[in-house]
Amino acid sequence: MKGRTILYTGAAGGLGLETTLLLIEGGATVIAIDNDLAKVAQLIKAAADRGPGKLVVSTADLSDLSGFRIRLNTLIAEHGGFDIVINNAAIYPSKPFEDFSVEEHQRVQRINVDAGIVAVQAALPGMRAKAFGRIINIASITLSGGWANLSPYVASKGALVGLTRAWAREFGPDGVTVNAIAPGAFPTDAEKIHPDPESYVRMVLDAQAVKRRGVAGDIAHAIAFFAADEAGFITGQMLHVNGGWVMA
Ligand SMILES: NC(=O)c1ccc[n+]([C@@H]2O[C@H](COP(=O)([O-])OP(=O)(O)OC[C@H]3O[C@@H](n4cnc5c(N)ncnc54)[C@H](O)[C@@H]3O)[C@@H](O)[C@H]2O)c1
Repeated sequence: MKGRTILYTGAAGGLGLETTLLLIEGGATVIAIDNDLAKVAQLIKAAADRGPGKLVVSTADLSDLSGFRIRLNTLIAEHGGFDIVINNAAIYPSKPFEDFSVEEHQRVQRINVDAGIVAVQAALPGMRAKAFGRIINIASITLSGGWANLSPYVASKGALVGLTRAWAREFGPDGVTVNAIAPGAFPTDAEKIHPDPESYVRMVLDAQAVKRRGVAGDIAHAIAFFAADEAGFITGQMLHVNGGWVMA
């Protein structure tokens, strides 16, 4: 990771924080985009004594795509482009399909998918010029079925997986790989949507082959794997990190 500049959306979140620390310890400059000021403050505190890489925080609301595009152009001018883009930020409103308005559905796609498109559009010219790039899209186990009341979220993860394959084909000739990671169940804010936490944890442990809860480090190391120079022959793939729950 030494010398690499990484654009990481939602980097202050439950999975993002640990991953950011690992990437900084690997020598990268991590540009963290998030709009949750309390989580951003925790990330800054956690990264304060880490190195040899560094943390750059840029608070931005990804639902404002034109504002995000302008912000990215400023960051590119300051940091000379992004070698690695991690499309990780997501919202996950939960209710029955019929209760979602089209506008609510579209807001989920804007944050979970379209912000990633804006990020890749901004990063790609620099990646192509360097003949190196890594794009990592964070999908979800929910795309494998088995979860109700998350239709806009599941649709957004399906779109990210489709983009992973389309981008992999299109950017491969320029040395840019594109892969997805599908986390299983991790105890972050994303899990708080479940009404009965105890039975949810029991259900998770029953379903997994590995009988412990996932930790953010499990995702951090999978991201570091795809981001590495050595992963240049792997593209268009989705890695399941779920303790052997869904096997594909
Ligand atoms: N935790 C899990 O069990 C789990 C399972 C499957 C997939 N995932 C995926 O992993 C990724 C990370 O999830 P997490 O568990 O860390 O959740 P999280 O909610 O802790 O992290 C998401 C981050 O995105 C940020 N974000 C949301 N909307 C934003 C906006 N409009 N502008 C800027 N930032 C915004 C949030 O502030 C938050 O820090 C997500 O893509 C999620 O879908 C998580």
